[in-house]
Amino acid sequence: MAFLQGLDSHIVIVGCGISGIGAAQRLLNNGFHNVRILEATGRCGGRIRTGRLGDKIVEIGANWIHGPSQENPVFRLACQYNLLDEESMSEENQTQDIGGHPPFVPNWFSSSGKRLGLELTEPTTLLFKNILQQCQDFHTSGREPVPSVGQYIKSEALRHASEWRDDKATRDLRLAMMSMMLKLECSISGTHTMDEVGLGAFGMYRTLPGLDCTFPRGYEGLVSCMVKELPKDIVSYNKPVKCIHWNDSVLRAHASGRTFPVLVECENGESFPADHVIVTVPLGYLKKHQETLLSPPLPLNKVHSIQRMGFGTNNKIFLEFEQPFWDPDCEVIYFVWEDETVPVDVVPDMETFWMKKLFGFTVLRPVERYGHVLCGWIAGHESEHMESLSEAEVQHSMTQLIQRFTGNPTIFPKG
Ligand SMILES: Cc1cc2nc3c(=O)[nH]c(=O)nc-3n(C[C@H](O)[C@H](O)[C@H](O)COP(=O)(O)OP(=O)(O)OC[C@H]3O[C@@H](n4cnc5c(N)ncnc54)[C@H](O)[C@@H]3O)c2cc1C
Ligand SMILES: *[C@@H]1O[C@H](CO)[C@@H](O)[C@H](O)[C@H]1NC(C)=O
Ligand SMILES: *[C@@H]1O[C@H](CO)[C@@H](O)[C@H](O)[C@H]1NC(C)=O
Repeated sequence: MAFLQGLDSHIVIVGCGISGIGAAQRLLNNGFHNVRILEATGRCGGRIRTGRLGDKIVEIGANWIHGPSQENPVFRLACQYNLLDEESMSEENQTQDIGGHPPFVPNWFSSSGKRLGLELTEPTTLLFKNILQQCQDFHTSGREPVPSVGQYIKSEALRHASEWRDDKATRDLRLAMMSMMLKLECSISGTHTMDEVGLGAFGMYRTLPGLDCTFPRGYEGLVSCMVKELPKDIVSYNKPVKCIHWNDSVLRAHASGRTFPVLVECENGESFPADHVIVTVPLGYLKKHQETLLSPPLPLNKVHSIQRMGFGTNNKIFLEFEQPFWDPDCEVIYFVWEDETVPVDVVPDMETFWMKKLFGFTVLRPVERYGHVLCGWIAGHESEHMESLSEAEVQHSMTQLIQRFTGNPTIFPKG
């Protein structure tokens, strides 16, 4: 029996995030015309989602184009649809190589309500940057003195600290700053702790040149532009896929009389025959559901890869203020817990102290567009615990936190 091949193939894409949409766009542009996207929820975009805070837009999911330059397909699409500011598209900014760490202007606060000055913060950030660079270099050198990035940074930080000529209080404070920077790395890597990030593989992650930029009218605009170009009705919403039957010795007949090697079965009992399936569900979903999502299951080497790769949680907390408590040029606010005098990125007694995992806030800019809005960043199990709390509880904790670090009990975020 001969299968219909090539451009007439029936292709089912599972998931309508930017990966699924991108796959559909590519297939249609190349002449495939039997393409269908099955999406579990009632919307497209997945982890790209633009929300509102009053009359302002805020990014619930992705915020930046990291490494916006010609090699970056997201950047190319954003330019093509004319979604970026002139400055973001300038040659000069495309060639800046920032290695994943944008040169944000920081304001540092400590848990006793003090501002920390450049004489402390500059040498400490420089040291941290150097240690992080060493971590990246282990990929090419093939050496791996300890298993994880966390272990390496922690031991190197302590080794250097023993050589500092600072007094004990200063040394403790500088180590506490290192803790903050570790938590920042947790948010960047989307991990519970840097102890879970493999040292040898850390340098595999390649950053593209370009000064990270944002979408002035929201990241979701990119998704909308892409979806608009797809044929109507190509996406079926509220269709969570339950099982992909890909045992091609089972040939399912279709109304057309054709048979298909794959059958995609949805939770509601509907099923869609296919020649090929593209699965774009998140790794976290696969880790939990791979046993039932595919029948027969994936080959063991793939199953092991899925199990061994890490997947973490990252949350944002948006706060709006009448007046800024930060400097006019400030782009990021760092909170240093003075009791963290050995470098740590995991919070003991998480139920009480989950907010210690928050490394600080980025300042939404420009001010003319946002007013005074901060975005707090928190990763890991502490962030999962936060998800279980009410908005009022989170707001209360944030208010206390900010009052403590600024030493100003009259600061309140807007309710
Ligand atoms: C808080 C946060 C901040 C981020 N910040 C940035 C950033 O600044 N810059 C950046 O580049 N990236 C960022 N990211 C990552 C970026 O959002 C993702 O890499 C990207 O959106 C992933 O797209 P995707 O299509 O692969 O997956 P997703 O967007 O997750 O899409 C997968 C889709 O599959 C659907 N699905 C799942 N299971 C099923 C099923 N069984 N049946 C049918 N459909 C299913 C889901 O509903 C979803 O719509 C951030 C992510 C988060 C969460
Ligand atoms: C580069 O980007 C920054 C931040 O968006 C902007 O202020 C600057 O003007 C840009 N540079 C150019 C040459 O446009
Ligand atoms: C595929 O399905 C057939 C018929 O149900 C079964 O005999 C066979 O064992 C299956 N193969 C795999 C790899 O699951």
